[in-house]
Amino acid sequence: MMNYEQAMEKLNQYGQTQILRFYEELNEEQKASLLDQIEKVDFNSINLEPLDAVKGNIEPLGAMKLAEIAARKEELKEAGLKSIRDGKVAALLLAGGQGTRLGLDGPKGTLNVGLTKELYIFQCLINNLMDVVNEAGVWIPLFIMTSDKNDAATRAFLKEHDYFGYNSDYIRFFVQEMAPATDFEGKVYLEAKDHIALSPNGNGGWYKSMQTAGYEELLDQMGIEWINIFAVDNVLQRIADPVFVGATVLSGCEVGAKVISKAAPDEKVGVMCYRNGRPSIVEYYDLNETMMYQKDENGDYAYNSGVILNYLFRTSALKRIADMNMPLHIAKKKIPYVDENGVFIKPEEVNGNKYESLVLDMIEMMEGCLAFEVERAKEFAPIKNMHGVDSLDSAREMLQANGIEL
Ligand code: UTP
Repeated sequence: MMNYEQAMEKLNQYGQTQILRFYEELNEEQKASLLDQIEKVDFNSINLEPLDAVKGNIEPLGAMKLAEIAARKEELKEAGLKSIRDGKVAALLLAGGQGTRLGLDGPKGTLNVGLTKELYIFQCLINNLMDVVNEAGVWIPLFIMTSDKNDAATRAFLKEHDYFGYNSDYIRFFVQEMAPATDFEGKVYLEAKDHIALSPNGNGGWYKSMQTAGYEELLDQMGIEWINIFAVDNVLQRIADPVFVGATVLSGCEVGAKVISKAAPDEKVGVMCYRNGRPSIVEYYDLNETMMYQKDENGDYAYNSGVILNYLFRTSALKRIADMNMPLHIAKKKIPYVDENGVFIKPEEVNGNKYESLVLDMIEMMEGCLAFEVERAKEFAPIKNMHGVDSLDSAREMLQANGIEL
């Protein structure tokens, strides 16, 4: 293990010696723990350079639209059900985020959306997956990615609720990696005198974390060829949706992306596009006015397919890209920290950066992406905030509109 001098040398290299500011005040155990953290942290995951997201030549990428899907529904569904029944499809819940906008104490999935009864976010998702399990007549392996911050609470909650009726033999958890959080100058915060402020490193590292957990071999043994990853907060989404699975498998693409038509050209959602001829996603803040209102040959908006964080990846492609470097995005967040006087501060305003890799950057590494349109009113009710847009309130209304009793 690193001694004090070695730790200091490493920190010096990265301009982070403030981490040892309170070292002399710590007891032996705390000292050892802090040195251990310094040894393990990868300071290269701090990058203050903003990404040049609009680089390259952006062009529209057409989607498989609702009308075409409806016309081919039986054929697509049959193909999807076959893959599911052959055990080739797994689902993966991305639940490592901190949900800071919601401001809940526990994991986001433990939020009760019910009004007259208990109905938790996790429960909504499992209910949705159960529809497919019942239709296909087989259990679908469900992986759940957590982070150090919420792993124990997530496992305990699901166990306590008997996995909401899911067969726990088919549920597997793994923990994602963490990255240091910094102030706006890139100096790493301490969350306690003996603790570096660490936060989940984004949802883009999920496959690497699966590998670290030893699940790549398991996927091979099980014969899994497709993984449907989905976010924790969209309580209406369909998971391992047979029609979507069938359409992606038959398309020959390495990934399928569920998309919705934008509510308005300026809606704040990332849209599917081609970048330098490769499938990609352009973030809403990078979409300029011309692109926003550009029409395609049918008179529809050309950049109209908003992504909803529900993707079906081919495992062979995931293996190929696992070791590729992913860009680091800066997320400005409220980060609790110990100031230079040793006082613990819980900030009211954003005070620093977290550095995250994102799933959307994996799309560009894929050979072909099928954008698959779904109905917003039936499949997109994300809970990011308590009230307002994309909130608990709006999701409740949408659940009720879909006949789900609260
Ligand atoms: P969000 O972009 O909504 O981030 O995550 P968040 O951290 O949960 O919430 P805010 O921004 O702090 O309010 C989209 C999905 O990606 C997962 C989340 O759990 C959610 O399902 N995610 C995000 C991870 O699994 N790990 C991460 O490090 C970040």
